[in-house]
Amino acid sequence: MTAPILRTKAALRDAVQGWKAAGESVGVVPTMGALHAGHLSLVEAAKAGCDRVIVTIFVNPKQFNTASDLENYPRTEVADAEKLAPYAVDAIYVPGAEEIYPEGFATSVLVSGLTDGLCGSHRPGHFDGVTTVCAKLFLQTLADRAYFGEKDYQQLQVVTRMARDLDLLTEVIGCPTVREADGLALSSRNVLLPPGTRAAAPALNRVLRQVAERLAEGESLGPVRFQAEAALREAGFSELEYIELRSADGSRHWNTPPGPLACSPPPGSAGCG
Ligand code: PAF
Repeated sequence: MTAPILRTKAALRDAVQGWKAAGESVGVVPTMGALHAGHLSLVEAAKAGCDRVIVTIFVNPKQFNTASDLENYPRTEVADAEKLAPYAVDAIYVPGAEEIYPEGFATSVLVSGLTDGLCGSHRPGHFDGVTTVCAKLFLQTLADRAYFGEKDYQQLQVVTRMARDLDLLTEVIGCPTVREADGLALSSRNVLLPPGTRAAAPALNRVLRQVAERLAEGESLGPVRFQAEAALREAGFSELEYIELRSADGSRHWNTPPGPLACSPPPGSAGCG
């Protein structure tokens, strides 16, 4: 049986208040829909950790940088509800835009520092859109825990910091990346990849793992980065944006030689959702 689909914050609040009054914990899995096995692994984690689970589906206009990316984002609500049926979640929250950004909405949540560099540099305002919508979803669902994939690692760090800095009562839980057999991280946008780009995309995971191994063995960043760029180009990554090296919590980054040595995955294969 498919879970109830709630479309207003009033309906959501009614459900959540009943659960809270009964002393039940609430987990939320925020998504933009087009669900895949990565999302479903977050649902499993939420089911294991909470009495009640809400999956949110909202294609958040504030985190898109171009109108065409927003327009092309896959919207598959009926199929999403069917995919969730075996998990028996307690609610699917599919708010209309006015439930999240009512007329006159003028507030933005911005985490500084962690949003510098990586996707933050290449998608101006993207993380402000993510943190603004996540703050709203955490508060609307009154969730005790929120589940995010490590695939969008910078997002995970930024949202964790936002919840901590604002004393939100929602604990952010990171869950492992789910990959295709060829190593490509599952992403809702993978369906948008043309066949040639899809064929090249697994090189990203392979090359980044090699970079990590070689740096761990003590090789210096300059040559490793240079060879990584060459390997990605050879695999078919024609447009390269950046390679940056950070500690896992983003607190340290290493200076790299100047120059446009940079790479990013083909659009949609990983990174900033
Ligand atoms: O990772 C995503 O799908 C989105 O960035 C999120 C967290 C649902 C916010 O819109």
